[in-house]
Amino acid sequence: MTQTSTQKQRDILVTSALPYANGPIHLGHLLEYIQTDIWVRYQKMRGHNCYYVCADDAHGTAIMLRAEQEGITPEALIERINKEHQADFADFHIAFDNYYSTHSEENKQFSEYIYRQLQKNGHIATRQITQAYDPEKNMFLADRFIKGTCPNCKTDDQYGDNCEACGATYTPAELLNPRSAVSGATPVAKESEHYFFRLPEFTEFLQTWTRSGTLQPQVANKLAEWLDDGLQEWDITRDAPYFGFEIPDAPGKYFYVWLDAPIGYLASFKHLCERAGIDFDHYWKPDSEAEVYHFIGKDIINFHALFWPAMLHSAGYRTPSAVWAHGFVTVNGKKMSKSRGTFIMARTYLEHLNPEYLRYYFAAKLTSGVDDMDLNLEDFASRVNSDLVGKVVNIASRSAGFITKRFDGQLGTITETDKLSTFIAAGEDIASYYENREFGRAMRRIMELADIANQYVNDQQPWVVAKQDGQEAQLQAICTNALNMFHLLMTYLAPVLPNTAARAAEFLNAEFDWNSRSQRLENHAINKFKPLMSRVDMASIDKMLDASREDQSAAAAQTSEAQTNLEPVAAEIEFDAFARVDLRVAKIINAEHVEGADKLLRLTLDIGHGERNVFAGIKSAYAPEDLQGRLTVMVANLKPRKMKFGVSEGMVLAAGPGDKDIFLLSPDAGATPGMRIM
Ligand code: MSP
Ligand code: ZN
Repeated sequence: MTQTSTQKQRDILVTSALPYANGPIHLGHLLEYIQTDIWVRYQKMRGHNCYYVCADDAHGTAIMLRAEQEGITPEALIERINKEHQADFADFHIAFDNYYSTHSEENKQFSEYIYRQLQKNGHIATRQITQAYDPEKNMFLADRFIKGTCPNCKTDDQYGDNCEACGATYTPAELLNPRSAVSGATPVAKESEHYFFRLPEFTEFLQTWTRSGTLQPQVANKLAEWLDDGLQEWDITRDAPYFGFEIPDAPGKYFYVWLDAPIGYLASFKHLCERAGIDFDHYWKPDSEAEVYHFIGKDIINFHALFWPAMLHSAGYRTPSAVWAHGFVTVNGKKMSKSRGTFIMARTYLEHLNPEYLRYYFAAKLTSGVDDMDLNLEDFASRVNSDLVGKVVNIASRSAGFITKRFDGQLGTITETDKLSTFIAAGEDIASYYENREFGRAMRRIMELADIANQYVNDQQPWVVAKQDGQEAQLQAICTNALNMFHLLMTYLAPVLPNTAARAAEFLNAEFDWNSRSQRLENHAINKFKPLMSRVDMASIDKMLDASREDQSAAAAQTSEAQTNLEPVAAEIEFDAFARVDLRVAKIINAEHVEGADKLLRLTLDIGHGERNVFAGIKSAYAPEDLQGRLTVMVANLKPRKMKFGVSEGMVLAAGPGDKDIFLLSPDAGATPGMRIM
């Protein structure tokens, strides 16, 4: 009764949005990469030719300024972040076929080629525009790099175009007392020539394209409103200084990061094609039979469903088969927040919890729609515990021991053919749920099957049968039935739980192959069972939240006021500002662990004329005993700041890649506590 797939093999290219190369991956991002990865793994299991590519989005002002602030080149910054991103993704079992960077030769080639095509087709307009300009830093300022006083409520320190205090919206020109967030200088108006993509010319094309089944209905409706309101030309130029690709024949002008970002999908795929011998044109020629899907968040729909198809269309490429948007992650019902500790980095999560818990929880709550997704941490723990540990893994652990101990690891024959047929048939529904991105439905159906399997074991009571004489065959059959059910459950869960599936495959000494899932495991040797997954405990979750809060306090304690305000660079300061910083030699008279803090140490410092209590995020580099009695340099006149664990009355100077080092004076430096450093 081997099932052969009647479906023909499809050629599918899948992408997730390219994360910015100026910050770490967090749980919000992960919703998208996990969603895409599950879909891709499912397609691969069905035997389709499915490729999943992504890249870092490496260009733009923010990345340029961040590199400057760190005193490194943008290239060095994006290379470091690329490594971090790839490590985070790999540890969440996100299996790209290629992960690249938009700062690549391929991407430069494609960007120039597409731009020239647009130009040739008359889709580029040129005109002078006036923008705010920072006369000290010699750069144009986007709205978010201008600060000032709200014209409505007069609150100071408001960004670009809206006031956080009263909610008023305005143009940066209306801000009172405007200044550059980069240098503090007063912006001036300056003219420059810009290139525009003539989007309005694609209105009709987009009206058809957005209505042709390429978008979710809610998204298509939203876009219909925008299309009715009339499209605007799109400014694709940024003036130097900028980190990006220079526009051909336009020295000092660069492509806006959002022009070359989606082209990065082509570039990453091209890079894969070269390596793996795949025919690029087969996927991207007009009217290609191959399928192309973009998974994105709802905040970047206009770029993917308006600009991008219009650009592809003008440049002579096929357009995407579909663009699928998902909603935003909230934690415990609220927007992710640094102060609540719910702005959780991928790495912080990994230090405390199993990545497959999150993959399962997201899968269990995902639909094909654009609704936001709440990660409720108590629900998360109870769902994972009751479904995965309590239901699925339990079936195997209840049956495996008997097979190993009593039957030398050999399964017998199946006697519950009807039940197993139900399990096999359910694979059709589950398949269509995966295909249609209704992962929550797929998980519910799988858990219904798990309930059937557990009920079966409860009814059959193998532990009772095991004690009865002459019931050997019966015992072996019960366990064989149950483990065949488990085999099917794990086949269906494999796209979500690749690591557990790999370990379960080893235990069952069998593969999880969707298309031949009706093959039975009978008279087959299995291996000794090892626990597949442990329970989530709330204590680990609490530790993760504390660590996230601390990531923030440690970062805040170690960075300047300017940075904590998210300003792109610490502005240059006059000598007198520097002279006001009271740098003193301090003796560390006591250093101790802070209860509940993974990164901070509490230091008691002698600064000659008194003692100071300072929290420093250096626990990863020093044991308290190593610090006692040593001399360091501190900022003695920093305004005390209240932190989660107490008040910090100053700051010790650190050096190194971050949180790892403290600047210690060598014992013979001849310094004494309280000595001022100038
Ligand atoms: N660089 C652009 C995308 C360019 S695609 C050609 C970008 N980067 S991002 O790092 O800000 O976001 C990457 C993806 O993660 C986007 O699809 C975005 O919607 C998604 N998410 C970022 N924060 C998110 C949540 N809190 N929740 C869910 N998705 C989120 O946008
Ligand atoms: Zn205001």
